Amino acid sequence: MKNSSISRRRFLQASGAAAIWIPTSARGYTSQEMRDFYANGEMSVNVSKWELDTPALCVDLDLLEGNLDKMASTMSTNGIASRPHAKTHKCPTIAHMQMDRGSVGICTAKVSEAEAMFLSGIDQILNTTGNVTPTKINRAMNLAQQCPGFIQATDSQPNARLLSEAAVAKGIIADVVVDVDPGIRRTGTPFGQSALQLAQLVDQLPGLRFRGMLCYDAAAQHVVGFQTRKAQTLERMVQATDTFNLMNASGLNTEIFSGGGTGTYNIDHDTVGMTDVQVGSYVFMDAQYMSIGGEQDAEVYSDFATSLTVMTTVLNDQYEGRATSDAGAKACTINQPWPIIKGESGMTYRSGSDEFGTILYGDDPSRNYKVGEKLEVIVSHCDPVVNLYDQMYAIRGDVVEAVWPISARGMSA
Ligand SMILES: Cc1ncc(COP(=O)(O)O)c(C=O)c1O
Repeated sequence: MKNSSISRRRFLQASGAAAIWIPTSARGYTSQEMRDFYANGEMSVNVSKWELDTPALCVDLDLLEGNLDKMASTMSTNGIASRPHAKTHKCPTIAHMQMDRGSVGICTAKVSEAEAMFLSGIDQILNTTGNVTPTKINRAMNLAQQCPGFIQATDSQPNARLLSEAAVAKGIIADVVVDVDPGIRRTGTPFGQSALQLAQLVDQLPGLRFRGMLCYDAAAQHVVGFQTRKAQTLERMVQATDTFNLMNASGLNTEIFSGGGTGTYNIDHDTVGMTDVQVGSYVFMDAQYMSIGGEQDAEVYSDFATSLTVMTTVLNDQYEGRATSDAGAKACTINQPWPIIKGESGMTYRSGSDEFGTILYGDDPSRNYKVGEKLEVIVSHCDPVVNLYDQMYAIRGDVVEAVWPISARGMSA
């Protein structure tokens, strides 16, 4: 994040308008009460987000829907599909909203996440992380047996053989994509012959059906500055295109070439052959993404709105220059840049303590908090924060419209 006061001001503007109503005697409705109010699929009691027990995870529906619509229209203008990554939201309701807007499927990072999405009725799932243990391979093939739209990634020949054996044992032919490393050495097999040979093996193994490849350049997503990000992404993906063309030329079924994310969503259609973009964070956005800058707005990546916030309550106001809130590392993580207090200026937030957040006032804070008052913070990095909550509150205006289970929360295996 840039440090100049101009940047700070732009950040605060982009983080939304100041709250207009903050009750001092907020009721503090618990998670259980909120679930009860929403038991029939609509709220039986009017509850403001300011009345929630805290810390509470909220998503602003107007902003979320705007983000979903913008992604859908950009994809359609650019002639590329979206296969959004559910690792960000872990929430079937949002996955369905993405599918309803024309996504070709969703991605998952873990087989347990994929199971949760399938249980909620999502039946086009690409699991982007390889499974290497017998337990996980078996689990993935169980899912493939139940869900014909399930696709598993693999990045090595021994792994492909194990997947095939498990599939044969279940009497199925499982769909597989080859994960190709964009040069970051995290997962995937190298570009070129290594990827081609793996694809050919997958194509020949009795239990597998080759569907194409994925190549996700994690290192490109947060490159600061749109033109730098674009140049780096397109340069690196040339080798992915060459690899995809090799597979195509050897007669393989190359129907999928998946990759990209929120940082490159409006760049990836220039990668020749790429079929779909695995965008995740765009639904919520966060302080990390805000700091990379966009094509139109060099200072703040404002292509998508920051729809996700954590509501927190002030616990202590006795000390000069600061106040303590109830949302620390266990509510916001310790990722950086630190969370941003929505709609306020002249103050910063730290979430380094387990149970406590620290509000630090600058020279000219827009307000001072009293014990019991609430504030709303934009989180540092949305994915790990969502994973800390069982449910999120869908808010319209200031009012809770729905309580959404984060069904794949904690599904890290
Ligand atoms: C394989 C894969 N694809 C897509 C994404 C989505 O990225 P983003 O949240 O930047 O859109 C991720 C995120 O880590 C990922 O690991």
